[in-house]
Amino acid sequence: MIKKKFYIENYGCQMNISDNEIVSSILDNKGFIKTENLKEANIILINTCSIREKSEKKILLRINQIKFIIKKNNILIGILGCMASKFKKIKEHLVVGPDSYREIPNLINNFFKKKGEYISTSFSKTETYADIIPKREEKKITAFVTIIRGCDNMCTFCVVPFTRGREKSRDPYSIIKECKFLFKKGYKEIILLGQNVDSYLWYGGGLKKNLKRKEIKNEEIINFSKLLELVAISVPLMRIRFWTSNPNDMSDNVLNVIKKYINICKHIHLPVQSGSNRILSLMNRKHTYVDYIFLIKKIKNIIPNCSLSCDIITGFCNENQNNHNETLHLMNYVKYNFSYMFLYSHRIGTYAYKKLIDNVSLSTKKRRLTEIINLQKTHSYYRKIKSIDSIQDILIEGISTKNINFFYGRNSGNDIVIFPKKNSKIGYFIKVKITNCTSATLVGNILL
Ligand code: SAH
Ligand code: F3S
Repeated sequence: MIKKKFYIENYGCQMNISDNEIVSSILDNKGFIKTENLKEANIILINTCSIREKSEKKILLRINQIKFIIKKNNILIGILGCMASKFKKIKEHLVVGPDSYREIPNLINNFFKKKGEYISTSFSKTETYADIIPKREEKKITAFVTIIRGCDNMCTFCVVPFTRGREKSRDPYSIIKECKFLFKKGYKEIILLGQNVDSYLWYGGGLKKNLKRKEIKNEEIINFSKLLELVAISVPLMRIRFWTSNPNDMSDNVLNVIKKYINICKHIHLPVQSGSNRILSLMNRKHTYVDYIFLIKKIKNIIPNCSLSCDIITGFCNENQNNHNETLHLMNYVKYNFSYMFLYSHRIGTYAYKKLIDNVSLSTKKRRLTEIINLQKTHSYYRKIKSIDSIQDILIEGISTKNINFFYGRNSGNDIVIFPKKNSKIGYFIKVKITNCTSATLVGNILL
């Protein structure tokens, strides 16, 4: 029998990249062959994101574009991930939500045999894909390892709890096993992923039964700080990052673990969303301006050189000029190394969509966003310029796109650094003296 080929495309966050690797592994194990060529595929899978209107629109355009390119019959288009629930009623597609990836091979067979269903969007209370070794891309530098799926926080603007379901922490043993496996495979860096890594929690009851689980045999409960420490100890020669933290759940223990282990990068992504207490409360964020600043002070106290980044939404329901100024004020206080800044878009199904009015005009949203972006640029530059003349540990990730005689890599704080190649190689850890910068990039020279 000729094996069927699948092509898989990704939209959205790092978690979707990680999910695609899980889906690829599931299909690979069932004899499907991955292809990078859309036109030779029998199955085209698109992993979707519905966090913002803009991402959804882009995906809908792409689906139409694919339909236009692929004029052949008997090609299956599959919608995976967050937008699956939107496509539930469109019978021509395979539609699979984030908790149903294991069903994909059967659903594909149903499609080609023209029998049964090929839609599955229900949520599971337990599915974490813990036993599946993701099929990763060949570039063996950084690997994403998902540690917790879903989110329980119910920020009023956010669709994630509805598209990805409730929080589910993954068995720590499977996480550590995977990290060790990645080290053996030659990977250099691990990024532990979750919508809110700080709420990772594993009750160890079941673990005691398995005596092989040496590293965690005496632990009753594994929280994020313990997990982070276990990972740092298990793969001491790898860099560890984690993404995303939540200001309400980040514990002092996590900060102390980051400080203690040199292989844990000194960078925290800590979304604030707004600097206004009024807006934070409308957003159902559990932190106030003062709580957030207090946490920032604590971080800087425990890890003085810690780099900080965040997510900010501009133009949320009822946001007035004063509230916007409060966000600028907070940014001026923290001076983030970098930020992801978004224009608010109403998402169907969220509390804000049901109960609040999207009443900030598009032109105001855009103006405020421009102000935020411009301010962030000055802060990024301020942070970067401060590192001129310092010597930094860099992991080389690839060849610079602007100049083939240069490599690019990252420092512990997650800044991109470019430097002449000299006698180094992709995947090496090296020391670079920083000599120059822009607001986006550091420039330097390798110290031999
Ligand atoms: N904790 C998650 C957050 C997921 S959503 C994480 O791991 O990143 C990522 C960011 O998208 C949020 O922090 C928020 O800033 C932004 N966002 C979410 N919903 C949005 C909406 N309706 N409009 C605009 N931005 C939104
Ligand atoms: Fe979304 Fe808030 Fe969770 S932004 S992912 S509901 S922490």
